[in-house]
Amino acid sequence: MSRKLDHLRLCADPKKVGFREKTTLLEDVELIHNALPQVSLDDVDTSCKLLGKHLAAPIIIEAITRGIPQAEKLNQTLAAAAERYGIGFGVGSQRKALENKKLAKTYQVRDVAPDILLIGNIGLVQFSSGMKLSAVADAASMIGADAIALHLNPVHEAIQPEGDTNFYGTYGKLREIVSLGIPIIAKEVGSGISRKTARMLIEAGVSAIDVAGAGGTSWTRVEYLRSKDTDQTFGEWGIPTAASLLQCTGLGVPVISSGGIRSGLDVAKSIVLGASAAGAAQPFLSAYLKGPKALNALISSWIRDLKIAMMVVGAKNLPELAKTEYLLTGKLKDWASL
Ligand SMILES: Cc1cc2nc3c(=O)[nH]c(=O)nc-3n(C[C@H](O)[C@H](O)[C@H](O)COP(=O)(O)O)c2cc1C
Repeated sequence: MSRKLDHLRLCADPKKVGFREKTTLLEDVELIHNALPQVSLDDVDTSCKLLGKHLAAPIIIEAITRGIPQAEKLNQTLAAAAERYGIGFGVGSQRKALENKKLAKTYQVRDVAPDILLIGNIGLVQFSSGMKLSAVADAASMIGADAIALHLNPVHEAIQPEGDTNFYGTYGKLREIVSLGIPIIAKEVGSGISRKTARMLIEAGVSAIDVAGAGGTSWTRVEYLRSKDTDQTFGEWGIPTAASLLQCTGLGVPVISSGGIRSGLDVAKSIVLGASAAGAAQPFLSAYLKGPKALNALISSWIRDLKIAMMVVGAKNLPELAKTEYLLTGKLKDWASL
């Protein structure tokens, strides 16, 4: 079975591929209840602008799949849902389609999603092993993307049997890629981004950072399962999503919160910690596999719960939510002192 199909099959079950002990630490963010909000739920405004695009709610369906026949229906269905609800959508790694142009159509969604924030995807490490810089523009024009997410996934590559583990020169390549002028989002895949790394990324000129922190899907567990390896040493590796937000926000570029985002309340807490939007992959894959009703129900429940969270802290819009009072407890408080 192909690697991509293996990933889809394994990731369908969050119990198998999720972090087991480590959490996002969003549970350590306590929003302060307001018993006297001067807001109507109907008037709560969840809209925002990200990378020049209007979003009805600050939610992104994150990169899921690529380069297999099954991807076409999945990408079309998820992108159409994103268009319906006015949220963002990212395709999975476009590497296969850059190598084999026939696969391009499995990623193309602009016919069903003309207006969404659409994000392309390539692994940064691929540029150290021969991928040409022109691939970035090719990936963007292949799907009509507004930005390209460059995934940084060193621990995932290290555990993957066929992984690419030579990271020499990736920072230099990143600088060259950014100079092409296509908006670049630096994105992890579930191990988070530290402040030190965020500063380097910003210095290189990225337009946004997607923390993709620990607490949701564990990509090392996915690879351990694929290779039937009993060793699970790095199964819990990574910076929890909320901790990564504390490290990366406020540095001057928009930050996307992802990795274990599982509700509209998680989205609200992410905004309070300084994120511009929040995204998820696994929940949308599970909902897609259950059918269209489940997908619509998932997205509408996240938007409804985000609105409720905003109302009960007294925030009419996202800038007000970002300024709301909150308390950090537990392990996240330790991270806050770093
Ligand atoms: C089946 C599947 C395939 C994925 N493929 C990619 C990919 O091609 N590129 C990428 O940047 N991230 C990929 N991811 C990672 C997600 O975009 C996300 O960063 C990660 O799963 C953490 O989010 P989650 O906890 O909501 O799943 C994939 C995730 C899943 C579940």
